[in-house]
Amino acid sequence: MPKKLNMKERYSAKLYDLWASFYDHTFGQLVHSRQKHAVKQIRPKPGEFILDIGVGTGMTLPHYPKNCTVVGMDLSGGMLEKAAEKIQENNLTHCSLVQGDAMFPPFAPQSFDHIIITHTISVVSEPAKLLRWAETLIKPTGRIVILNHFQSANPFIGWWEHILNPFFLKIGWRSDLPLDECLEDSKLHTLYHYKISLFDFWQIVVLSPTNRHDPEDEHAPQSQSSALSDSQISPSIN
Ligand SMILES: C[S@@+](CC[C@H](N)C(=O)[O-])C[C@H]1O[C@@H](n2cnc3c(N)ncnc32)[C@H](O)[C@@H]1O
Repeated sequence: MPKKLNMKERYSAKLYDLWASFYDHTFGQLVHSRQKHAVKQIRPKPGEFILDIGVGTGMTLPHYPKNCTVVGMDLSGGMLEKAAEKIQENNLTHCSLVQGDAMFPPFAPQSFDHIIITHTISVVSEPAKLLRWAETLIKPTGRIVILNHFQSANPFIGWWEHILNPFFLKIGWRSDLPLDECLEDSKLHTLYHYKISLFDFWQIVVLSPTNRHDPEDEHAPQSQSSALSDSQISPSIN
């Protein structure tokens, strides 16, 4: 298999500054219901701290409970300006924003109870490094929720996703990122994962540093189809 190409932060920052003015009305329209689903999987307790990595225009922000503190981080000043407008318009006083690079996050270890990464793991230059950081920044009992498109396990579809990758990189994300590559060197446990419909392109994956049994996970949405192999699924939901 030829070497796979990733996004580069210097290019992403400029590109997403351009995306900022039309993101919500284009890609945002395709993904908003999944973002709401993904936020629900965090299940935070009152007073907990949540980090939203690659918060973009802040489409997830209105979905967080007001009794939590949310920090949205993003590389692009243009995207953050749109997120700031949402905070102001919706009086989201529990949300704040930080401009920063997820490859070098400006936070101390275990600063957050939970982390969410929506449509961003295939945009950073080193997806596995992002998850290693998330593992460092989160408390041992927290949850890491990822919403993303991952390369299909079907060889034909996966091949097309690889062939089309140079085009998708130009418009802002990688189309041939397999979940396995993100979890390389990671000690995170996959609690559960699902797609909101059978033929959906996007997947919600819930990870945690500890493989503890949460009775609520028994009622978690069931996976309809997925890019994960059975061995990656926690025994607690099998
Ligand atoms: C496709 S958008 C997703 C935005 C939002 N999470 C959503 O679901 O609508 C990807 C976002 O990741 C940000 N991003 C890309 N690389 C980043 C990095 N290294 N650190 C922080 N943010 C990054 C981009 O600026 C952009 O806002």
